[in-house]
Amino acid sequence: MKKSFCLLLSAALILSVLSGCDQSKPGAPDAELSPTPVLTVSPKPSAEPSAEPSVEPSAEPSVAPSKAPVKQEVLLFETSFDEFTDGFGPRGSETVELASEDSKDGSSCLFVTNRTENWNGAQKDVTDLMEYGKTYKIAADVKCSENASINLTTEMHSGDSVSYSAVKTLNGNAGEWVHFDITYNFFTETDTIAFYFETDNKADFYVDNFKLAVIETSSVEDPACRPSLAETYQDLFKIGVAIGPDEIKNPKKAALVKYHFNSITTGNEFKPDYLLAQQASKDGGDEEHAAVNFKNIDTFCTWARENNIQVRFHTLVWHNQTPKWFFREGFDNNADYVSSDVMAKRLENYIKDVCTYINDNYEDVIYCYDVVNEAMSDGYGDDGVRNEENPWYDTLGRDYIRKAFEYARKYASPNHKLFYNDYGCSSAAKRQRIVDYLTDLAAEGLVDGVGMQSHYGISLNDPASIDYKLSIKAFSNLGLEVQITELDIGLDDNSEQKMKQLATRYVEFFKLYKSLQEDPDNGVNITAVTVWGLTDDGSWLNGTSGTDQYPLLFNSDYSGKLCLDKIIEIMQ
Ligand code: GLA
Repeated sequence: MKKSFCLLLSAALILSVLSGCDQSKPGAPDAELSPTPVLTVSPKPSAEPSAEPSVEPSAEPSVAPSKAPVKQEVLLFETSFDEFTDGFGPRGSETVELASEDSKDGSSCLFVTNRTENWNGAQKDVTDLMEYGKTYKIAADVKCSENASINLTTEMHSGDSVSYSAVKTLNGNAGEWVHFDITYNFFTETDTIAFYFETDNKADFYVDNFKLAVIETSSVEDPACRPSLAETYQDLFKIGVAIGPDEIKNPKKAALVKYHFNSITTGNEFKPDYLLAQQASKDGGDEEHAAVNFKNIDTFCTWARENNIQVRFHTLVWHNQTPKWFFREGFDNNADYVSSDVMAKRLENYIKDVCTYINDNYEDVIYCYDVVNEAMSDGYGDDGVRNEENPWYDTLGRDYIRKAFEYARKYASPNHKLFYNDYGCSSAAKRQRIVDYLTDLAAEGLVDGVGMQSHYGISLNDPASIDYKLSIKAFSNLGLEVQITELDIGLDDNSEQKMKQLATRYVEFFKLYKSLQEDPDNGVNITAVTVWGLTDDGSWLNGTSGTDQYPLLFNSDYSGKLCLDKIIEIMQ
């Protein structure tokens, strides 16, 4: 059969059919996870009345057919480069041609040679094939003549600007084919989009079997095919999710956030890096007062208000993602640190500006602040406060935490709770350091709660639930609220077995929160549980681990995972 270029826009080829809320999908409930019967899926009680006929009673698991989404991959373009280069061409002065001796399959493949830059490669414009807002599958085989990191990257042009974004990087050994198989959400507004392959060297490489398919979005899972997570837990605590611009611009992600969550945290957008404005600070000429840009606060708080969702403010003070120049004379990247008096004034003014803006505009939307993030050191043996690569410590010493809380208490609305937030809180050392530092602040009424980030792994002993519980209790003993602020479970395998393990892990955490919160005698007050990301494709762990990660409650195609069903189920 001729395997060359075929464009199948009309004759849609269905490559796979999977169901979302369908109980027969891989990863359906089993006895190991729970003795209770298969989850009966019912619409959110408060959902708008629907025109659909009600579902007749049936012996089958009750999933309304209209709500059982069908995911279809429709092939848009496929080539094995047997006769033509099929729209792939060079990016610079390199040569892109067919080579017959080295193909993976068929009679030839694409050959990229004479590369003088790493970014030289093979590129194809796919603007006419792709539509904003849809999800795509991209597959290809690539082989480099030397060991290399092989990148699939996008080039997008919008007006006069051009942007390049890495989609996927695979490590290839010299002369060995590696296989790309990627899900790509196209949610960037752009005039053009092209895909290209490049490597981190200038060696020759080969491409074969390129395929582009769209996942039909008409059949995306209806969020209302299961109860709302936030409503399920509304008597215990808020249920939050970390979001970014994608989650409010992409209507399918936005629908999930609105349906399942009653709290949001911006993953990045309220951090000092995003709010502090360098040029305006320099132009302002006040050494004690940096300029703040409130645009992000407006964008997310307005969206939250419109959708009746509350916002955790993350984060006023952090040693990371805070511009270097904020600590330096003249707001200059390379100048010396300012004196501690000037830095204290800058800190006060920053907190004052942000809190005042929020009090004036979004008093009803924000409910708490992470005043200080990650300020405790990890081990024993120093003064307890993070002193490495910490410009706050360099300029203000260990008192920067106290000062931040004093200013936040002075300027924040009394209706907004003030949190200290950190990772690794279950370790005995971190627990003790947090307790030691916060004891006085709590007694003075300067702090209201501890945020336990909770980025954990799949192993059941990470953390041991006894340690986790001891920390929740220790913070509660200071009279403080506890919030779980960044929960995710790193996992690079989405096999059925691993998804069951992930569900077991989430259930373990949620059962612990539930039991602590429901026991009136233990003094624990967990007021919110936030998951750090919505769909797996948006997890920060994809970027840091170098492998695709599956740590969250929703798949990249917006369908809910077994872990979501299971944490809903424990409340039923
Ligand atoms: C820490 C921070 C978060 C975020 C994560 C990684 O936990 O508190 O703001 O940066 O790392 O995404």
